Amino acid sequence: MRRPFVRALNGSLVLAVVAGVIPLVSAAPVAAGSVVVGGFPVDISEGPWNVALSSRDRFGGTRAGQYCGGVAVSRTVVLTAAHCMGADVLGAPPNRVRDLKVIAGRTDLLSDQGQEIPVRDTWVNPGYDTSTNAGDFAVLRLAEPLAGSSVVTMASAGDAAYEPGTAAVVYGWGDATGGGDYARSLRAAHVHVLADALCERAYPGGDDGTYASGAMLCAGEAEGGGDACQGDSGGPLVAQGKLVGLVSWGSGCGRPGSPGVYTRVSDVVRALGWGRGLRGPHAVP
Ligand code: ARG
Repeated sequence: MRRPFVRALNGSLVLAVVAGVIPLVSAAPVAAGSVVVGGFPVDISEGPWNVALSSRDRFGGTRAGQYCGGVAVSRTVVLTAAHCMGADVLGAPPNRVRDLKVIAGRTDLLSDQGQEIPVRDTWVNPGYDTSTNAGDFAVLRLAEPLAGSSVVTMASAGDAAYEPGTAAVVYGWGDATGGGDYARSLRAAHVHVLADALCERAYPGGDDGTYASGAMLCAGEAEGGGDACQGDSGGPLVAQGKLVGLVSWGSGCGRPGSPGVYTRVSDVVRALGWGRGLRGPHAVP
């Protein structure tokens, strides 16, 4: 895969892939033992701010319509990737997808645990650059508040959690092997925040995207292994108990020399003015 798969395939193919009809084939074999890739099963209680984005209309019911991840930053506001709201992914603009929902409080997609909450409205970063992938974030406002206190704290600029070498965890219901094996239950993988220079070297500009240090965060394992993969997009990367990244893109999954690229959450906080308390915390733009 030289491009994030949601941009590399047309809408109907995405439907078939996500429904499990057509297996995704990666260009290179995934590192042995790598599954998320390099991951392990987790219970939703270990990351209760994880939500699945779902449309059974668009993606079929076999995995409860899950096609992307998201993360609750307040009881009515979810962050996800801008590309998860793209018409090339959804087959229509998000406001035309009538059954767009978040699934919260559920580990196994096919259980009836937790809540399914309709998305009331969506805001896609107008600065999202589809050629570099910079600014890959969107804000969803939920029709009803989430139960409980399942909200993650966002790390602002300068937070120690962004320092290279920091241990981090990425979560998702996406491809667990790089071979199209979409998870039914939530998984996580251990990764580390990596120096911008590593991703600048890996992604100097090409079909996959171009690494932009101010807007993106580089994370993975130097030898490959733990990584996010297709279907994890929009989901959280958490370090020191705070949200530092949203799954955005990469070249393949878990390949040595091709780290995962995340939307840098401090840039989201800055762009939305959420750090300054001017418009109330987590107000939807
Ligand atoms: N673009 C993918 C998605 O839509 C996420 C890819 C992340 N890839 C990676 N190697 N970290 O689900």
